[in-house]
Amino acid sequence: MERILISKTPENKGQNVSVSGWIWGRRDHGKLIFIDVKDRTGTLQCVFLPNNKELHSLGDTLRTGFVVRLEGQVSERPKGMVNAEIPTGEVELQVTALEILNECVTPPFALDTDGLELGEDLRMKYRYLDLRRDRLQKNIRTRFQIIQFIRNWLAEKEFVEIETPILTKSTPEGARDYVVPSRLQNGKFYALPQAPQQYKQLLMVAGFEKYFQIARCFRDEDTRGDRQPEFTQMDMEMSFVEREDVIAENESMLIGLVKELFPNKKIQETPFPRISYAEAMEKYGTDRPDLRKDKEDKDLLAFCWVIDFPFFEKNDDNTWTFTHNPFSKPKNEHMEWLMKKEKIGEILTTQYDIALNGFEIGGGSIRNHKPEPLRKVFEIMGFSEERIASNFGHMLTALGYGAPPHGGIAWGLDRLITLLTGEPNIREVFSFPKTGDGRDLMMDAPAEISEKQLKELGIKILDKK
Ligand code: AMO
Repeated sequence: MERILISKTPENKGQNVSVSGWIWGRRDHGKLIFIDVKDRTGTLQCVFLPNNKELHSLGDTLRTGFVVRLEGQVSERPKGMVNAEIPTGEVELQVTALEILNECVTPPFALDTDGLELGEDLRMKYRYLDLRRDRLQKNIRTRFQIIQFIRNWLAEKEFVEIETPILTKSTPEGARDYVVPSRLQNGKFYALPQAPQQYKQLLMVAGFEKYFQIARCFRDEDTRGDRQPEFTQMDMEMSFVEREDVIAENESMLIGLVKELFPNKKIQETPFPRISYAEAMEKYGTDRPDLRKDKEDKDLLAFCWVIDFPFFEKNDDNTWTFTHNPFSKPKNEHMEWLMKKEKIGEILTTQYDIALNGFEIGGGSIRNHKPEPLRKVFEIMGFSEERIASNFGHMLTALGYGAPPHGGIAWGLDRLITLLTGEPNIREVFSFPKTGDGRDLMMDAPAEISEKQLKELGIKILDKK
Protein backbone atom coordinates (compact mmCIF):
# COMPACT_ATOMS: atom_id res chain seq x y z
CA MET A 1 0.00 0.00 0.00
CA GLU A 2 1.32 3.45 -0.89
CA ARG A 3 2.30 5.75 1.96
CA ILE A 4 0.20 8.83 2.64
CA LEU A 5 1.34 11.79 4.71
CA ILE A 6 -0.14 12.20 8.15
CA SER A 7 -1.58 15.62 7.30
CA LYS A 8 -3.74 13.86 4.66
CA THR A 9 -5.34 11.39 7.09
CA PRO A 10 -8.42 13.54 7.97
CA GLU A 11 -9.31 13.58 4.24
CA ASN A 12 -9.21 9.79 4.20
CA LYS A 13 -11.82 8.96 6.84
CA GLY A 14 -13.07 5.39 6.44
CA GLN A 15 -10.19 4.47 4.11
CA ASN A 16 -7.43 1.96 4.61
CA VAL A 17 -4.12 3.78 4.44
CA SER A 18 -0.44 3.36 5.18
CA VAL A 19 1.62 5.92 7.13
CA SER A 20 5.29 5.97 8.09
CA GLY A 21 7.10 7.90 10.79
CA TRP A 22 8.52 7.94 14.29
CA ILE A 23 6.85 6.92 17.53
CA TRP A 24 6.41 10.21 19.35
CA GLY A 25 4.52 9.07 22.43
CA ARG A 26 2.65 6.15 23.90
CA ARG A 27 -0.24 5.75 26.33
CA ASP A 28 -1.74 2.48 27.49
CA HIS A 29 -5.40 2.41 28.50
CA GLY A 30 -6.23 -1.02 29.79
CA LYS A 31 -5.88 -3.32 26.81
CA LEU A 32 -5.74 -0.47 24.30
CA ILE A 33 -2.33 0.83 23.22
CA PHE A 34 -2.33 4.37 21.87
CA ILE A 35 0.75 5.61 20.07
CA ASP A 36 1.42 8.95 18.42
CA VAL A 37 3.24 8.64 15.12
CA LYS A 38 4.95 11.66 13.63
CA ASP A 39 6.09 12.38 10.13
CA ARG A 40 7.23 15.66 8.60
CA THR A 41 3.64 16.88 8.29
CA GLY A 42 2.16 16.12 11.71
CA THR A 43 1.27 13.57 14.38
CA LEU A 44 -1.41 10.92 14.27
CA GLN A 45 -2.96 8.88 17.07
CA CYS A 46 -2.86 5.16 16.28
CA VAL A 47 -4.66 2.46 18.27
CA PHE A 48 -3.80 -1.18 18.76
CA LEU A 49 -6.95 -3.08 19.71
CA PRO A 50 -6.65 -6.24 21.83
CA ASN A 51 -8.53 -8.46 19.34
CA ASN A 52 -5.49 -9.21 17.16
CA LYS A 53 -3.18 -10.76 19.72
CA GLU A 54 -0.05 -11.01 17.56
CA LEU A 55 -0.30 -7.42 16.37
CA HIS A 56 -1.12 -6.20 19.86
CA SER A 57 1.95 -7.82 21.36
CA LEU A 58 4.15 -6.43 18.56
CA GLY A 59 2.59 -3.00 19.27
CA ASP A 60 3.51 -3.51 22.89
CA THR A 61 7.23 -3.53 21.96
CA LEU A 62 7.07 0.00 20.50
CA ARG A 63 9.10 2.68 22.23
CA THR A 64 9.63 6.38 21.61
CA GLY A 65 11.77 6.99 18.56
CA PHE A 66 11.08 3.66 16.79
CA VAL A 67 10.58 4.06 13.04
CA VAL A 68 7.45 2.34 11.81
CA ARG A 69 5.20 1.71 8.84
CA LEU A 70 1.58 1.24 9.82
CA GLU A 71 -1.52 0.20 7.95
CA GLY A 72 -5.04 0.63 9.16
CA GLN A 73 -8.36 2.33 8.84
CA VAL A 74 -8.72 6.07 9.44
CA SER A 75 -11.63 6.31 11.89
CA GLU A 76 -13.38 9.19 13.56
CA ARG A 77 -12.42 9.40 17.20
CA PRO A 78 -15.20 8.74 19.71
CA LYS A 79 -16.85 11.97 20.90
CA GLY A 80 -14.99 13.35 23.90
CA MET A 81 -11.68 12.00 22.57
CA VAL A 82 -11.32 14.69 19.89
CA ASN A 83 -8.18 16.81 20.26
CA ALA A 84 -8.90 20.27 18.84
CA GLU A 85 -5.25 21.30 19.26
CA ILE A 86 -3.88 19.28 16.34
CA PRO A 87 -5.07 19.12 12.70
CA THR A 88 -5.52 15.32 12.88
CA GLY A 89 -7.32 15.56 16.23
CA GLU A 90 -10.66 14.19 15.06
CA VAL A 91 -9.28 10.96 13.60
CA GLU A 92 -7.19 8.00 14.63
CA LEU A 93 -5.71 5.02 12.86
CA GLN A 94 -7.04 1.59 13.85
CA VAL A 95 -3.89 -0.39 13.16
CA THR A 96 -4.14 -3.56 11.08
CA ALA A 97 -0.45 -4.01 10.21
CA LEU A 98 2.81 -2.86 11.74
CA GLU A 99 6.33 -3.03 10.35
CA ILE A 100 9.16 -1.89 12.58
CA LEU A 101 11.64 -0.22 10.22
CA ASN A 102 14.14 0.59 12.93
CA GLU A 103 14.44 0.60 16.67
CA CYS A 104 15.66 3.49 18.79
CA VAL A 105 17.70 3.43 21.95
CA THR A 106 16.34 5.57 24.77
CA PRO A 107 16.83 9.21 23.72
CA PRO A 108 18.98 11.30 26.11
CA PHE A 109 16.18 13.86 26.51
CA ALA A 110 12.51 14.40 25.82
CA LEU A 111 11.68 15.57 22.30
CA ASP A 112 8.12 16.74 22.87
CA THR A 113 9.22 19.91 24.70
CA ASP A 114 10.74 23.10 23.23
CA GLY A 115 14.17 21.99 24.51
CA LEU A 116 14.97 25.31 26.14
CA GLU A 117 14.90 23.63 29.56
CA LEU A 118 17.98 21.56 28.65
CA GLY A 119 21.68 22.31 28.89
CA GLU A 120 23.26 23.31 25.60
CA ASP A 121 26.00 20.67 25.60
CA LEU A 122 23.58 17.77 25.61
CA ARG A 123 21.43 19.31 22.88
CA MET A 124 24.47 19.95 20.68
CA LYS A 125 25.94 16.49 21.16
CA TYR A 126 22.69 14.93 19.93
CA ARG A 127 21.72 17.73 17.57
CA TYR A 128 20.11 15.31 15.07
CA LEU A 129 17.63 14.39 17.82
CA ASP A 130 17.26 17.94 19.07
CA LEU A 131 16.30 18.91 15.51
CA ARG A 132 13.37 16.48 15.64
CA ARG A 133 11.47 18.72 18.03
CA ASP A 134 8.64 20.77 16.55
CA ARG A 135 10.19 24.14 17.35
CA LEU A 136 13.45 23.41 15.53
CA GLN A 137 11.71 21.73 12.61
CA LYS A 138 9.71 24.93 12.23
CA ASN A 139 12.76 27.20 12.51
CA ILE A 140 14.80 25.31 9.93
CA ARG A 141 11.85 25.19 7.52
CA THR A 142 11.18 28.92 8.07
CA ARG A 143 14.84 29.59 7.35
CA PHE A 144 14.48 27.78 4.03
CA GLN A 145 11.33 29.79 3.17
CA ILE A 146 13.12 33.06 3.90
CA ILE A 147 16.07 32.10 1.70
CA GLN A 148 13.70 30.93 -1.02
CA PHE A 149 11.82 34.24 -0.84
CA ILE A 150 15.09 36.19 -1.18
CA ARG A 151 16.23 34.09 -4.15
CA ASN A 152 12.94 34.54 -5.97
CA TRP A 153 12.72 38.25 -5.21
CA LEU A 154 16.25 39.00 -6.40
CA ALA A 155 16.07 36.74 -9.45
CA GLU A 156 12.91 38.61 -10.46
CA LYS A 157 14.94 41.83 -10.26
CA GLU A 158 17.66 40.42 -12.51
CA PHE A 159 20.23 39.76 -9.81
CA VAL A 160 22.54 36.81 -10.54
CA GLU A 161 23.52 34.46 -7.74
CA ILE A 162 27.23 33.77 -8.00
CA GLU A 163 29.30 31.56 -5.72
CA THR A 164 32.68 32.86 -4.63
CA PRO A 165 35.61 30.88 -3.20
CA ILE A 166 35.84 29.58 0.34
CA LEU A 167 39.57 28.87 0.08
CA THR A 168 40.87 32.38 -0.34
CA LYS A 169 43.04 35.05 1.17
CA SER A 170 42.61 37.11 4.29
CA THR A 171 39.96 39.86 4.04
CA PRO A 172 40.03 42.78 6.42
CA GLU A 173 36.56 42.66 8.00
CA GLY A 174 37.73 43.34 11.50
CA ALA A 175 37.88 39.81 12.93
CA ARG A 176 40.52 37.08 12.94
CA ASP A 177 40.70 34.70 9.97
CA TYR A 178 40.33 30.96 10.04
CA VAL A 179 43.32 29.64 8.14
CA VAL A 180 43.79 26.44 6.16
CA PRO A 181 47.27 25.11 5.46
CA SER A 182 48.15 24.33 1.86
CA ARG A 183 49.79 20.99 1.08
CA LEU A 184 50.86 21.83 -2.45
CA GLN A 185 52.18 25.29 -1.53
CA ASN A 186 54.00 24.16 1.56
CA GLY A 187 54.21 26.72 4.34
CA LYS A 188 51.40 28.80 2.87
CA PHE A 189 47.84 29.21 4.09
CA TYR A 190 44.46 29.96 2.66
CA ALA A 191 42.08 32.05 4.73
CA LEU A 192 38.36 31.33 4.88
CA PRO A 193 36.39 34.43 3.83
CA GLN A 194 35.03 36.71 6.54
CA ALA A 195 32.74 37.97 3.76
CA PRO A 196 32.80 37.86 -0.06
CA GLN A 197 33.56 41.60 -0.10
CA GLN A 198 36.44 41.67 -2.56
CA TYR A 199 35.04 39.02 -4.88
CA LYS A 200 31.71 40.80 -5.18
CA GLN A 201 33.45 44.04 -6.06
CA LEU A 202 35.53 42.17 -8.63
CA LEU A 203 32.27 40.80 -10.09
CA MET A 204 31.22 44.42 -10.60
CA VAL A 205 34.47 45.06 -12.47
CA ALA A 206 33.58 41.95 -14.50
CA GLY A 207 30.31 43.57 -15.56
CA PHE A 208 27.64 41.50 -13.78
CA GLU A 209 26.04 44.70 -12.40
CA LYS A 210 23.68 42.91 -10.01
CA TYR A 211 25.09 40.11 -7.85
CA PHE A 212 23.84 38.30 -4.80
CA GLN A 213 24.83 35.26 -2.82
CA ILE A 214 23.56 33.36 0.17
CA ALA A 215 27.12 33.38 1.39
CA ARG A 216 28.83 31.42 4.14
CA CYS A 217 31.24 33.60 6.15
CA PHE A 218 33.85 32.65 8.75
CA ARG A 219 35.11 34.82 11.59
CA ASP A 220 37.33 33.68 14.40
CA GLU A 221 35.90 35.78 17.19
CA ASP A 222 34.34 35.08 20.56
CA THR A 223 30.91 33.56 20.12
CA ARG A 224 27.89 35.33 21.62
CA GLY A 225 24.14 34.94 21.59
CA ASP A 226 23.96 36.74 18.24
CA ARG A 227 27.20 35.44 16.71
CA GLN A 228 28.51 32.21 15.29
CA PRO A 229 32.03 31.51 13.96
CA GLU A 230 30.49 30.47 10.65
CA PHE A 231 27.33 32.20 9.60
CA THR A 232 25.38 33.17 6.49
CA GLN A 233 24.98 36.50 4.79
CA MET A 234 22.55 37.62 2.17
CA ASP A 235 25.29 39.43 0.28
CA MET A 236 24.58 41.76 -2.64
CA GLU A 237 26.34 44.29 -4.83
CA MET A 238 25.03 46.60 -7.56
CA SER A 239 26.68 48.80 -10.18
CA PHE A 240 25.75 52.35 -11.21
CA VAL A 241 23.98 53.00 -7.92
CA GLU A 242 23.98 55.49 -5.08
CA ARG A 243 23.19 54.88 -1.43
CA GLU A 244 19.48 55.58 -2.02
CA ASP A 245 19.22 52.79 -4.62
CA VAL A 246 20.71 50.16 -2.31
CA ILE A 247 18.58 51.31 0.61
CA ALA A 248 15.38 51.30 -1.48
CA GLU A 249 16.07 47.84 -2.91
CA ASN A 250 16.71 46.35 0.51
CA GLU A 251 13.89 48.11 2.28
CA SER A 252 11.33 46.89 -0.23
CA MET A 253 12.68 43.34 -0.02
CA LEU A 254 12.48 43.32 3.80
CA ILE A 255 8.94 44.71 3.77
CA GLY A 256 7.93 42.18 1.10
CA LEU A 257 9.45 39.34 3.11
CA VAL A 258 7.66 40.29 6.34
CA LYS A 259 4.34 40.72 4.53
CA GLU A 260 4.53 37.40 2.76
CA LEU A 261 6.04 35.14 5.42
CA PHE A 262 5.19 36.88 8.70
CA PRO A 263 1.77 38.47 8.13
CA ASN A 264 1.16 38.70 11.89
CA LYS A 265 4.15 40.98 12.41
CA LYS A 266 3.84 44.75 12.29
CA ILE A 267 6.56 46.99 10.95
CA GLN A 268 6.56 50.06 13.20
CA GLU A 269 7.46 52.63 10.58
CA THR A 270 7.97 52.77 6.82
CA PRO A 271 9.99 54.12 5.14
CA PHE A 272 12.43 52.88 7.78
CA PRO A 273 13.62 55.84 9.87
CA ARG A 274 17.20 57.00 9.40
CA ILE A 275 19.41 58.16 12.16
CA SER A 276 22.99 59.40 12.05
CA TYR A 277 25.67 57.60 14.02
CA ALA A 278 26.23 60.75 16.10
CA GLU A 279 22.55 61.05 16.97
CA ALA A 280 22.23 57.33 17.74
CA MET A 281 25.17 57.47 20.14
CA GLU A 282 23.91 60.63 21.79
CA LYS A 283 20.28 59.55 22.18
CA TYR A 284 20.59 55.80 22.68
CA GLY A 285 24.26 55.21 23.51
CA THR A 286 24.51 52.57 20.75
CA ASP A 287 24.75 52.44 16.97
CA ARG A 288 22.02 49.78 16.79
CA PRO A 289 19.17 51.43 18.63
CA ASP A 290 16.02 49.58 19.63
CA LEU A 291 13.29 51.97 18.47
CA ARG A 292 10.29 49.81 19.42
CA LYS A 293 7.58 51.91 21.03
CA ASP A 294 6.29 48.84 22.87
CA LYS A 295 9.05 46.44 23.84
CA GLU A 296 6.54 43.91 25.19
CA ASP A 297 4.92 43.52 21.77
CA LYS A 298 6.48 40.34 20.32
CA ASP A 299 5.16 41.10 16.85
CA LEU A 300 6.59 44.58 16.52
CA LEU A 301 9.50 45.11 14.14
CA ALA A 302 11.34 48.43 14.34
CA PHE A 303 13.82 48.64 11.48
CA CYS A 304 16.09 51.66 11.17
CA TRP A 305 19.03 52.74 9.06
CA VAL A 306 22.08 54.16 10.77
CA ILE A 307 24.17 56.40 8.52
CA ASP A 308 27.05 58.87 8.55
CA PHE A 309 29.56 56.79 10.48
CA PRO A 310 33.11 58.06 10.93
CA PHE A 311 35.39 56.36 8.39
CA PHE A 312 38.36 55.94 10.74
CA GLU A 313 38.98 55.47 14.42
CA LYS A 314 42.17 55.35 16.45
CA ASN A 315 43.83 52.09 17.50
CA ASP A 316 45.31 51.82 20.99
CA ASP A 317 48.72 52.61 19.52
CA ASN A 318 47.38 55.88 18.06
CA THR A 319 47.38 54.63 14.44
CA TRP A 320 44.19 54.84 12.37
CA THR A 321 41.97 51.94 11.39
CA PHE A 322 38.66 51.73 9.52
CA THR A 323 35.42 51.55 11.55
CA HIS A 324 33.48 49.33 9.12
CA ASN A 325 34.88 48.60 5.70
CA PRO A 326 38.11 49.85 4.12
CA PHE A 327 36.59 49.57 0.64
CA SER A 328 33.90 52.16 1.36
CA LYS A 329 33.83 55.54 -0.30
CA PRO A 330 33.78 58.57 1.96
CA LYS A 331 30.81 60.90 1.68
CA ASN A 332 31.29 63.04 -1.44
CA GLU A 333 31.91 66.20 0.56
CA HIS A 334 34.75 64.47 2.44
CA MET A 335 36.54 62.94 -0.56
CA GLU A 336 38.94 65.88 -0.64
CA TRP A 337 39.97 65.29 3.00
CA LEU A 338 40.64 61.63 2.23
CA MET A 339 42.73 62.47 -0.83
CA LYS A 340 44.72 65.05 1.16
CA LYS A 341 44.81 62.77 4.23
CA GLU A 342 43.56 65.58 6.45
CA LYS A 343 40.82 65.88 9.11
CA ILE A 344 40.97 62.09 9.22
CA GLY A 345 38.82 61.74 12.34
CA GLU A 346 36.10 63.87 10.73
CA ILE A 347 35.79 61.98 7.45
CA LEU A 348 32.37 60.33 7.26
CA THR A 349 31.82 57.15 5.23
CA THR A 350 28.94 56.21 2.94
CA GLN A 351 28.40 53.19 5.25
CA TYR A 352 24.78 52.38 6.14
CA ASP A 353 23.86 49.81 8.79
CA ILE A 354 20.43 48.41 9.32
CA ALA A 355 19.23 47.67 12.85
CA LEU A 356 16.16 45.71 13.93
CA ASN A 357 14.86 45.82 17.52
CA GLY A 358 18.33 46.63 18.86
CA PHE A 359 20.36 44.20 16.71
CA GLU A 360 22.58 45.02 13.75
CA ILE A 361 21.14 42.88 10.97
CA GLY A 362 23.11 44.27 8.06
CA GLY A 363 25.52 46.78 6.72
CA GLY A 364 26.95 48.06 3.48
CA SER A 365 28.31 51.05 1.63
CA ILE A 366 29.10 52.68 -1.67
CA ARG A 367 32.69 51.72 -2.57
CA ASN A 368 35.70 53.55 -3.82
CA HIS A 369 35.59 52.49 -7.46
CA LYS A 370 38.82 54.27 -8.37
CA PRO A 371 42.20 53.05 -7.18
CA GLU A 372 43.60 56.35 -5.83
CA PRO A 373 41.17 56.92 -2.96
CA LEU A 374 41.38 53.24 -1.95
CA ARG A 375 45.15 53.56 -1.83
CA LYS A 376 44.76 56.63 0.42
CA VAL A 377 42.67 54.58 2.88
CA PHE A 378 45.52 52.09 3.27
CA GLU A 379 48.08 54.89 3.52
CA ILE A 380 46.09 56.57 6.30
CA MET A 381 46.13 53.26 8.15
CA GLY A 382 49.92 53.33 7.89
CA PHE A 383 50.28 50.33 5.56
CA SER A 384 53.64 50.17 3.77
CA GLU A 385 53.85 50.15 -0.05
CA GLU A 386 54.78 46.45 0.06
CA ARG A 387 51.87 45.54 2.33
CA ILE A 388 49.41 47.45 0.14
CA ALA A 389 50.79 45.75 -2.96
CA SER A 390 50.81 42.25 -1.49
CA ASN A 391 47.42 42.42 0.27
CA PHE A 392 45.42 44.67 -2.02
CA GLY A 393 47.40 44.93 -5.26
CA HIS A 394 44.78 42.85 -7.10
CA MET A 395 42.00 45.23 -5.98
CA LEU A 396 43.93 48.36 -6.94
CA THR A 397 44.83 46.82 -10.29
CA ALA A 398 41.24 45.71 -10.95
CA LEU A 399 39.77 49.11 -10.12
CA GLY A 400 42.12 50.51 -12.78
CA TYR A 401 40.37 48.44 -15.46
CA GLY A 402 37.18 50.43 -15.68
CA ALA A 403 35.39 49.56 -12.45
CA PRO A 404 31.87 51.02 -12.49
CA PRO A 405 30.57 53.00 -9.51
CA HIS A 406 29.13 50.36 -7.20
CA GLY A 407 27.86 49.58 -3.73
CA GLY A 408 26.09 46.89 -1.80
CA ILE A 409 25.13 45.42 1.51
CA ALA A 410 25.15 42.18 3.48
CA TRP A 411 22.44 41.04 5.85
CA GLY A 412 23.31 38.83 8.78
CA LEU A 413 20.74 36.29 7.67
CA ASP A 414 20.90 34.17 10.82
CA ARG A 415 20.33 37.22 13.01
CA LEU A 416 17.37 38.32 10.93
CA ILE A 417 15.86 34.82 11.11
CA THR A 418 16.42 34.72 14.89
CA LEU A 419 14.47 37.95 15.30
CA LEU A 420 11.68 36.98 12.91
CA THR A 421 11.18 33.59 14.58
CA GLY A 422 11.33 35.23 18.02
CA GLU A 423 14.12 32.94 19.21
CA PRO A 424 16.29 33.92 22.18
CA ASN A 425 19.57 32.80 20.60
CA ILE A 426 21.09 32.60 17.10
CA ARG A 427 21.89 28.89 17.62
CA GLU A 428 18.18 28.06 17.46
CA VAL A 429 18.05 28.86 13.74
CA PHE A 430 21.15 26.91 12.67
CA SER A 431 20.97 23.24 11.75
CA PHE A 432 24.31 22.43 13.34
CA PRO A 433 25.61 25.41 15.34
CA LYS A 434 28.82 25.65 17.31
CA THR A 435 28.85 25.97 21.10
CA GLY A 436 29.77 29.18 22.90
CA ASP A 437 33.43 28.15 22.77
CA GLY A 438 33.35 27.35 19.06
CA ARG A 439 33.10 23.55 19.20
CA ASP A 440 30.96 21.09 17.34
CA LEU A 441 30.24 18.61 20.14
CA MET A 442 28.58 16.13 17.83
CA MET A 443 31.46 15.80 15.36
CA ASP A 444 34.03 16.63 18.04
CA ALA A 445 35.53 19.46 16.03
CA PRO A 446 38.02 21.03 16.08
CA ALA A 447 40.10 17.89 16.47
CA GLU A 448 43.70 16.86 16.29
CA ILE A 449 44.99 15.55 12.96
CA SER A 450 47.35 12.65 12.37
CA GLU A 451 51.13 12.89 12.40
CA LYS A 452 51.05 11.92 8.71
CA GLN A 453 48.76 14.84 7.83
CA LEU A 454 50.91 17.25 9.84
CA LYS A 455 54.03 15.99 8.09
CA GLU A 456 52.48 16.37 4.64
CA LEU A 457 51.56 19.93 5.51
CA GLY A 458 54.97 20.66 7.00
CA ILE A 459 53.40 21.63 10.29
CA LYS A 460 54.74 20.96 13.77
CA ILE A 461 52.65 21.57 16.88
CA LEU A 462 55.07 23.21 19.27
CA ASP A 463 52.97 24.29 22.17
CA LYS A 464 49.74 22.62 23.18
CA LYS A 465 47.86 24.87 25.58
P1 AMO B 1 29.55 43.22 8.23
O1 AMO B 1 30.88 42.83 8.75
O2 AMO B 1 28.86 44.37 8.89
O3 AMO B 1 29.66 43.65 6.71
O4 AMO B 1 28.61 41.97 8.22
C1 AMO B 1 27.27 42.05 7.75
C2 AMO B 1 26.31 41.46 8.76
O5 AMO B 1 26.67 40.13 9.06
C3 AMO B 1 26.23 39.82 10.38
N1 AMO B 1 27.33 39.22 11.14
C4 AMO B 1 27.24 38.07 11.85
N2 AMO B 1 26.21 37.23 12.06
C5 AMO B 1 26.43 36.15 12.81
N3 AMO B 1 27.63 35.83 13.35
C6 AMO B 1 28.69 36.63 13.16
N4 AMO B 1 29.88 36.28 13.69
C7 AMO B 1 28.53 37.82 12.39
N5 AMO B 1 29.35 38.82 12.00
C8 AMO B 1 28.61 39.65 11.24
C9 AMO B 1 25.76 41.11 11.03
C10 AMO B 1 26.33 42.15 10.11
O6 AMO B 1 25.52 43.31 10.08
N6 AMO B 1 31.25 42.86 3.52
C11 AMO B 1 30.46 43.68 4.42
C12 AMO B 1 29.10 44.01 3.85
C13 AMO B 1 29.12 45.07 2.76
O7 AMO B 1 29.73 46.14 2.97
O8 AMO B 1 28.48 44.83 1.71
C14 AMO B 1 30.27 42.92 5.73
O9 AMO B 1 30.56 41.75 5.85
O10 AMO B 1 24.34 41.15 10.99
